[in-house]
Amino acid sequence: MTQTLLIENASQVVTMAGHSGKPAKKDAMRELNIVENGSVLVQDGEIKAVGKQVELEEQYQDDIAGAEVIDARGKTVTPGLIDPHTHLVYAGTRENEYAMRLKGKTYMKIMNAGGGIHATTKATREADFDQLYEESKQRLDTFFQYGVTTVEAKSGYGLSLEHELKQLEVAAKLNEDHAMDIVSTFMGAHAFPVDERDNPEPFVKQVIDEMLPEVARRNLAKFNDVFCERGVFTPDQSRRILEAGKEYGLIPKIHADEIEPYGGAELAAEVGAISADHLLEASDEGIRKMAENDVMGVLLPGTAFFLMAVFADARKMIDIGVPVALSTDANPGSSPTLSLPFIMNLGCLKMGMTPEEVMTAATINAAHAIDCADHIGSLEVGKQADIAIFDVPNYLMLSYNYGMNHVDTVIKRGNPVVRLHSGGNRK
Ligand code: NIG
Ligand code: FE
Repeated sequence: MTQTLLIENASQVVTMAGHSGKPAKKDAMRELNIVENGSVLVQDGEIKAVGKQVELEEQYQDDIAGAEVIDARGKTVTPGLIDPHTHLVYAGTRENEYAMRLKGKTYMKIMNAGGGIHATTKATREADFDQLYEESKQRLDTFFQYGVTTVEAKSGYGLSLEHELKQLEVAAKLNEDHAMDIVSTFMGAHAFPVDERDNPEPFVKQVIDEMLPEVARRNLAKFNDVFCERGVFTPDQSRRILEAGKEYGLIPKIHADEIEPYGGAELAAEVGAISADHLLEASDEGIRKMAENDVMGVLLPGTAFFLMAVFADARKMIDIGVPVALSTDANPGSSPTLSLPFIMNLGCLKMGMTPEEVMTAATINAAHAIDCADHIGSLEVGKQADIAIFDVPNYLMLSYNYGMNHVDTVIKRGNPVVRLHSGGNRK
């Protein structure tokens, strides 16, 4: 039987139409293609029509007759938000390190002393599949609450074949069981295991010769990511790992220039990465090369906020022609949040982005950053019906009333997964 849903009379429907073919850059990042007094007609999990309520009523009378209706009067409808960079699957928390950093210890100092990524690696290795599954599932539920309908998820807290596979298998099982869509990234090169830091070559070889082939053979990841940073993976080691991944069809991504300028942005352009992420300290040359090579800049202002670091220069990147996406970087060390709307606030208030640009960055450009823009990221006919309804009358208010959750309803493949008929927060 056909399942029809009509979201009707929204104050604004932010469609993001017209950017599915290629990422939005420069001025195009401000084109939201809004329908005022708009409605969205959904059939069998796909978008059947988007337009003014009166037009839809005329044109789709028969479909609408039997439809379930969501009254969106006074509300803003957007594509489901997309988080293109998360470390979803891990065990344990690191609030002790947060307290240490507040007293002046740095992120890298803590990591070099065996904390940081190493602390989470220890906890994640000790956790069994079921524990990781349950903890990650709860995070997915929370992502839904904040309007996110697709997440990318990285491994990188296993740092051995067995435990990297365990993390990726948890993500794969959750992708099957949970309504959320998860796109996986292998990140065996997230750190050197504590006892291999003084002699890095064997671990680089292990990533290339053992982990990559097995991850690819089991079809557990679409992307291959490396933490290219002084004291972690050098640009040369990163290049070898990313090039090796390409042989197995894994698309390169890079944690680039997060703590200091280190050539990560340049390397992303050189290896044809789909995105370079972080970029707090990216060089002008690196940014220019990214623009020339259409490498998406995935910016993670929650990390700069939480590490009390400088923010990436989004304004400069957009003006120069780098397509930009936004993400939480959800992880227990540098960005323990699951709120992409808060990241959008930070994009405006701390990185010089406009409210239009952050909307683009959290929807269609985020879809491009994970190579999914053909079926998600905008409200266009034929696309998957992943939709967020916010209890605010226009998109500007999403970043104006900051630090609040405005989500009213979230639809995943045509099915409501969050429904707060109370109307969410009052302004
Ligand atoms: O994206 N920089 C490396 N990886 C993560 C942090 C991981 C952690 O601290 O656990 C990041 O910031
Ligand atoms: Fe990250």
